[in-house]
Amino acid sequence: MRRLLVIGNWKLNGNKNTITNLIVRLVMACASVSKCSVAVAPPVMYLDLVMRYLTNSNILMCAQDVDIHISGAFTGDVSAAMLQDLNTRYVLIGHSERRIHHKENDAYIAKKFFILKKIGLIPILCIGENKREYDAGHTQSVCLNQIKSVIKLLGVEAFKDSVIAYEPIWAIGSGMSASPESVQIVHKLIRNYIANYNVSIANKIVIQYGGSVTPENVTQFLNQKDIDGVLVGSASLNADSFSMIVRAAENHDKSHSYLNDK
Ligand code: PGA
Repeated sequence: MRRLLVIGNWKLNGNKNTITNLIVRLVMACASVSKCSVAVAPPVMYLDLVMRYLTNSNILMCAQDVDIHISGAFTGDVSAAMLQDLNTRYVLIGHSERRIHHKENDAYIAKKFFILKKIGLIPILCIGENKREYDAGHTQSVCLNQIKSVIKLLGVEAFKDSVIAYEPIWAIGSGMSASPESVQIVHKLIRNYIANYNVSIANKIVIQYGGSVTPENVTQFLNQKDIDGVLVGSASLNADSFSMIVRAAENHDKSHSYLNDK
């Protein structure tokens, strides 16, 4: 059975004060969480600050990005070894904002996937189509191509204990989430594609949805069989909203979804 995973991606937001307030409130709100996994992804500058509050809490650390190198003359970059040093568990890679603003392509993102596996951190591979691709009916081929580049470099085994986050770009930060039914179709497609290589990895891989997730719509997503959690941007910056999303995952009984899983 897959454990639901809720992650708050704070992006480039906050300062010492607001981040301290937010994490203190979240740690309290998540004190009794036991049935789902929760992580926050602060700006890298504040990882250490946030980590001080996470010790002995139910919240795990996620980084927003990583470099492909472990150390050396790479000014401004942050390595997987450094993230591990700070007890980070998850790392987002291939977020559409990195793909768009930093021109990261699939081959480059696959290298990030490699370095994270090598160091023992859990990659969260973000994939998803833009509006033009969506309108042209290319959602499925775009998503599969983004996954294929990892399989090509590392083999399907790389997806063991990894996470995929399907985030239609047009749904991110727009207030216009995708319909839960259409997301389920994409998630099922991804799982089936991986199952062609390895059924056990496909059954176990956590596939999150991201894109304008709110306390109001989260349960509709979690009700879908192949949606194993959510990656939350805007709503994760508000302690009450994010806590409500976590509570929805914590209280969600997904057991009925797995009757046919091996
Ligand atoms: P959003 O962001 O929840 O603000 O749409 C999601 C994301 O970018 O991960």
